[in-house]
Amino acid sequence: QNTASIVISNDSKLTISKHIYGQFAEHLGHGIYGGFWVDKSLPVAKQDRIRLDVVAALKKIKIPNLRWPGGCFADEYHWRDGIGPSAQRPRMVNTNWGGTTEDNSFGTHEFLKLCELLGCEPYIAANVGSGTVEEMSKWIEYVNSNSTSTVAQLRKQNGHPDPYKVTFWGIGNESWGCGGNMTPEFYADQFKRYASFAKNYPGAPLKKIASGPNSDDYNWTEVIMKNIPDWMMWGISLHYYTVPTGDWGHKGSATAFSEKEYFNTMVNCLKMEELVNKHSAIMDKYDPKKKVALVVDEWGVWTDVEPGTNPGFLYQQNSLRDALIAATTLNIFNNHCDRVRAAALAQTINVLQSLILTDKDKMLLTPTYHVFDMYKVHQDAKYLPIQLNSPDYTVDGKTISAINVSASQDASGKVHISLANLDIHNDITITTSLKDIKWKSVTGQILTSANITDVNTFQQPDKLHLANFTGAKKDGDKLVVIIPAKSVVTLELE
Ligand code: AHR
Repeated sequence: QNTASIVISNDSKLTISKHIYGQFAEHLGHGIYGGFWVDKSLPVAKQDRIRLDVVAALKKIKIPNLRWPGGCFADEYHWRDGIGPSAQRPRMVNTNWGGTTEDNSFGTHEFLKLCELLGCEPYIAANVGSGTVEEMSKWIEYVNSNSTSTVAQLRKQNGHPDPYKVTFWGIGNESWGCGGNMTPEFYADQFKRYASFAKNYPGAPLKKIASGPNSDDYNWTEVIMKNIPDWMMWGISLHYYTVPTGDWGHKGSATAFSEKEYFNTMVNCLKMEELVNKHSAIMDKYDPKKKVALVVDEWGVWTDVEPGTNPGFLYQQNSLRDALIAATTLNIFNNHCDRVRAAALAQTINVLQSLILTDKDKMLLTPTYHVFDMYKVHQDAKYLPIQLNSPDYTVDGKTISAINVSASQDASGKVHISLANLDIHNDITITTSLKDIKWKSVTGQILTSANITDVNTFQQPDKLHLANFTGAKKDGDKLVVIIPAKSVVTLELE
């Protein structure tokens, strides 16, 4: 009963883009301010006001890109407010997120410095909702041009002589909602107008990303794909959040939930598979050669905020359940790497499904962080197709697949297999055949804990941590793995 079988083949030419492992950092709560960008007086190592322990942790998991400044904030952000001497920058109210005063001390140069320190590519979301074509066009010129134009010279005066060569640009965010409440027809026209004036500068061919559908709004994808030619857009975004109860009014707690609620959360998480399949099918109609990427640039679990915190700051704890959500979602993306070529978890530090939580000078790595650590081996590796036969996990008569999996082969020939066991009661024995893949030995890492609700806290920051996994063996030609209940495992075959 508690057995699964997997067949992994070598029969593919596809690569799992490293950009699937991207991150998102919005001006929201303590994501930027108090997260990446801290007070000068905070007793931690910093460069300018960028917190370096956070940078080192994110470098370790090789984050490939960072999306900024929003989110909803992007469509009320005016980039000129965030350049020049910090003390002279105008202040604004962050109307989306808690009505806080934004002092603009973290602007374009600070963000691009952060990306340089992280060794990742910047992904800038431009303001379409309340900005102008001229404003967006000049922002790109400011960042990427090496010309004698006044705006390019201004960047040089502000301390950066060389162009930054930022290639990822979002043309608006959630234009169906906080980004302007547009119809897809209106947005498609707006996209073409804005994209026409988003220019390529030497060494920086733009990857323009259209504001895509909300969850299962298939009509949005249809209209965008029909109206915007493939040469004009590199990608179309998709936003989907896993809400535990499925009810935005009472999303559910991040730390206290029953097995039934956990199960429903995983059902909602697995909806990503359906969304990717259905949006991809629409894209295939207009773009059979798959030139346009599906960019899932906001995903993750969205729970109620931690009791006592500002509801506008979206601060939530992160449990073993969230690690299983991350692993399952990344497996879905890896397995759809033909179309999903970039993504961003929402939102890196102290906001929604974070990789890192901070409390003044303290920081901790969440269970989700550890999944990204294990899964980094898949970045830019060759995708390996999989056939899976999994036992069911059943709660209250409803059923999901207990196991999900993805696999890849890196440039040195090592094979990596990532498995999640969503069943919280049963260990599962998995027998794997590998077709046309030679290997001699297997090692692995595991993330698990006694309870699905377990979290890392500032008192116990390493309660959930990666451990060596010894439950995998070579048996003749087969790989036999006993994966414990509620765990994530990544295996390395050499
Ligand atoms: O990630 C939080 C918010 O969720 C973003 O600002 C917005 O794009 C989405 O609705």
